[in-house]
Amino acid sequence: MTHADLRIEILRDADEVARSAAAEIIAALRYRPDLRLGLATGATMTPLYARLVTAYQLGEVSFRSASSFNLDEYVGVASNSPRSFHAYMHENFFARIDIARGRAHIPDGNALDIQAESHRYETLIHAAGGIDTQLLGIGTNGHIGFNEPGSPFASRTRKVKLEEATRLANADDVTGMVVPEYAITMGIATILEARRILLLATGADKAAAIAAAIEGPLTPACPASALLLHGNVEIICDETAASLLRHSGNGLRRRA
Ligand code: F6R
Repeated sequence: MTHADLRIEILRDADEVARSAAAEIIAALRYRPDLRLGLATGATMTPLYARLVTAYQLGEVSFRSASSFNLDEYVGVASNSPRSFHAYMHENFFARIDIARGRAHIPDGNALDIQAESHRYETLIHAAGGIDTQLLGIGTNGHIGFNEPGSPFASRTRKVKLEEATRLANADDVTGMVVPEYAITMGIATILEARRILLLATGADKAAAIAAAIEGPLTPACPASALLLHGNVEIICDETAASLLRHSGNGLRRRA
């Protein structure tokens, strides 16, 4: 498969990326109010959640019947710790919209038995009928979720060791937060089962990963290249994140 199977939208800046992704999610929710959303955390997602919260406050969208499944969480971090992805999701999104608390799922990184928790999470996604729209960011090393380079394409939810570069990128300069060594993440196979995938990327530091993901080769060295195996992926990125794409004509959709 070539990158012609992926759709890519190249926009001016991070704000435009958030606007476009929010419009996609709002449209999906209007079509299917009980949408099962796969969610991500991180700096790329923050402006998207802010837009979705505003749309909710304006009465343009409701999450009342929706459910959500986050990609990942740090291991050994309590859900009420400000370091957790639970806290990020609560602050940026869940506490500010009308999603039912019991339908907003995040892996429990503080579970005593992470293997059992991984199994529980996979079963939960399956029992819900699978994920309709999966949001993804991308690491500078090409990771999706916390599937670091070398992760098998057949991987499922499990405990993973984070690369030093990832721990550095996710450190909070303000609080001096130390990023844990391990995380629990949906696997690449779990992610590829979503019916539709929206990957967002902004900033020049994502340019090499975006080029490697889209132009291949298909290799576990770039986990995001696994998306070439999926028939319904849209990449929404800004001009700087797209700046290393060599073939910006074939199959690519520009809307700057
Ligand atoms: C977060 C996640 C990660 C991030 C990626 C990019 O839940 O799964 O794959 O999407 O590390 O993070 P930011 O957006 O902070 O650059």
